[in-house]
Amino acid sequence: MKDNRIRIGILGAGNIAQNAHIPSYLKQKDVEIAGIFDINSDRAKDAANKFGIKYVSDNYKEIIDIEEIDAVSICTTNDAHAEIAIAAANAGKHILCEKPMAMNVKEAEDMLKAARDNNIIFMMGFVNRFRSDSKLIKEFADAGKFGEIYYAKTGWFRRRGTPLGWFTNLSKSGGGPVIDIGVHVIDLTWYFMGRPKPISVSAVTYNKIGNYKTKGVSRWIALDADNIVFETEDSASAFIRFENGAAMTVDVSWAINGKDTGIYSDIFGTKAGASLNPLVIYDEQENYLVDSTPVINPENSFDNEISHFIECIREGKEPIAPPEDGLEVQKMLNGIYDSAKLGKEVIL
Ligand SMILES: NC(=O)c1ccc[n+]([C@@H]2O[C@H](COP(=O)([O-])OP(=O)(O)OC[C@H]3O[C@@H](n4cnc5c(N)ncnc54)[C@H](O)[C@@H]3O)[C@@H](O)[C@H]2O)c1
Repeated sequence: MKDNRIRIGILGAGNIAQNAHIPSYLKQKDVEIAGIFDINSDRAKDAANKFGIKYVSDNYKEIIDIEEIDAVSICTTNDAHAEIAIAAANAGKHILCEKPMAMNVKEAEDMLKAARDNNIIFMMGFVNRFRSDSKLIKEFADAGKFGEIYYAKTGWFRRRGTPLGWFTNLSKSGGGPVIDIGVHVIDLTWYFMGRPKPISVSAVTYNKIGNYKTKGVSRWIALDADNIVFETEDSASAFIRFENGAAMTVDVSWAINGKDTGIYSDIFGTKAGASLNPLVIYDEQENYLVDSTPVINPENSFDNEISHFIECIREGKEPIAPPEDGLEVQKMLNGIYDSAKLGKEVIL
């Protein structure tokens, strides 16, 4: 790090890079976005012009080889996360990797090994851990407020919210709503529970609604949204058991004929429980049942995530979302797919 400034390379110049990572880096003190890559060279050049970025390339190796770049954000389609992360780690760059970590468990294991072998800071972009309500639940959990958290229910049902673009193309995404939005709620709830070791998964996945023509609904649109194929599931349910006896149920959909739920996470402990979205703490006071809502300001979770990444680089700290967590979550995601395919519970 030259002159105390941290220089960032953005790898993948699509929606999440331009609308979340780049704006959040630009708000950080003594941080500069020095390079940008996308396989679509016009997109990379346009973004470089728009945000005043010095180095631009359609080959990610050129960006990770730039000596003055300290760290990278990996914002490509899921199929490129592993290759790019391993190369960036071998080049000694710190890494913030968008979710999901990888396409499968083997890739995630290789990424973890590359990060540890090269002694770099690797942080998973588990952005929901950085919401102010999530931070509060985690703080309460760590302080023992809930007692033993032995069960949790989490999910995210979208009635009609299938993203348009590569997300439904299995070879680019690795899966549908399980890997796209299930990753958020599984990670967050598991984090609240104290990250118990997952031991088995029983799941079903469905592809029943596919390419709908519903009017009047909005959806996430990837920057390349032509040639759409529907190869993934559009809903799933799972039951995950943990080594400490705890369990979690998960329901996710991009398209289902039921109510939109948004992200929810309900945790049940021996002393108290909590729900996220809306935030409610369920406990007893003076032998009365009490539902309470702590007062907190909403915060921009991407700003919090990026600021934590920068702080970890500056102070040599371990991020709150290390690659080991990315790998454990990947095991649960792929366990869901394996169980659904086999039609029975799988041991992780
Ligand atoms: N944290 C969140 O809430 C959140 C939200 C949306 C997306 N994401 C994640 O961010 C990543 C990007 O999603 P997006 O919505 O920005 O998609 P996008 O399609 O808008 O952008 C992806 C970019 O990757 C590039 N790309 C495609 N194939 C590539 C390859 N083989 N090698 C390198 N680059 C390639 C594309 O040219 C494109 O510019 C995904 O991993 C996605 O899961 C996270």
